[in-house]
Amino acid sequence: MKHLLSAGDLSRDEANLILDTAEEMRSLADRPIKKLPALRGRTVVNLFFEDSTRTRISFEAAAKRLSADVINFSAKGSSVSKGESLKDTALTLQAMGADGVVCRHGSSGAPHLLAKSGWMTGSVVNAGDGTHEHPTQALLDAFTMRRHLGSLDGRRITIVGDVLHSRVARSNVLLLATLGAEVTVVAPPTLLPVDMTSWPCATSYDLDGALAKSDAVMMLRVQRERMNDAFFPSAREYTRRYGLDKYRMAQLPDDAIVLHPGPMNRGMEISAEVADSTRSVIVEQVTNGVAIRMAVLYLLLSGSNEEETTA
Ligand code: CP
Repeated sequence: MKHLLSAGDLSRDEANLILDTAEEMRSLADRPIKKLPALRGRTVVNLFFEDSTRTRISFEAAAKRLSADVINFSAKGSSVSKGESLKDTALTLQAMGADGVVCRHGSSGAPHLLAKSGWMTGSVVNAGDGTHEHPTQALLDAFTMRRHLGSLDGRRITIVGDVLHSRVARSNVLLLATLGAEVTVVAPPTLLPVDMTSWPCATSYDLDGALAKSDAVMMLRVQRERMNDAFFPSAREYTRRYGLDKYRMAQLPDDAIVLHPGPMNRGMEISAEVADSTRSVIVEQVTNGVAIRMAVLYLLLSGSNEEETTA
């Protein structure tokens, strides 16, 4: 495995290897010494052209716990504001040495361009590209679900909300289908992509109809910054039909869990009571994100990459 660009590129065995490796990494958190020497001498560049709290910091924590050197690049405050291109930025960082590049970009496909262009020679991890994919988020979500539900084979997972703008939804649907889950996407018609029929999941406009048969429900952030009023006429109407409050949550089976990738719009797609409830695993998702990113960096960077297959 050389790069991690899409959740859809992972076979079931590859996905399970990452999840099983993350389980070992997760157990480190309970030990007095949380660091491993596995990536000593390797350099990981965090290349972030879009804002991030969870993904950027957890990749940094993950790399440091594996003893890698970390270079953090943020477009804000860099020469990108003077017009420097992705290519020249990449060449500049490569000149300083990079074994792995973690890239978040507002344009769909930017990490794929980095991986294929040769501007950087290291492994590329997609940390979220436009509205396209966010594979490590899907991995940490599957990891969190697996810890609560056991095998995801046949489990019913409902993903709710602004699917149109969500790279998290696409990566989750692809990965969960690979792991054998039955996924239903619930959204208003204006917030579903036109190519929905090619996604390996069912689609519904009716949240109340889906909740009683869900083992896990994942609420998506409403991405107001990416839409205009034609997509989203009324916040109150959206919350009434697609928000998860304590009354709706009561329809879930007893053992069902509630996820959200963050950042949350409390009071819009999810109420504060639900976000802070005992069913919510939202904070745990963040903890698990470090273990997943440790597993991904370890598997990509610790061995030889002579067999340069793209995962
Ligand atoms: N879930 C997620 O990608 O969060 P950040 O934007 O804070 O990284």
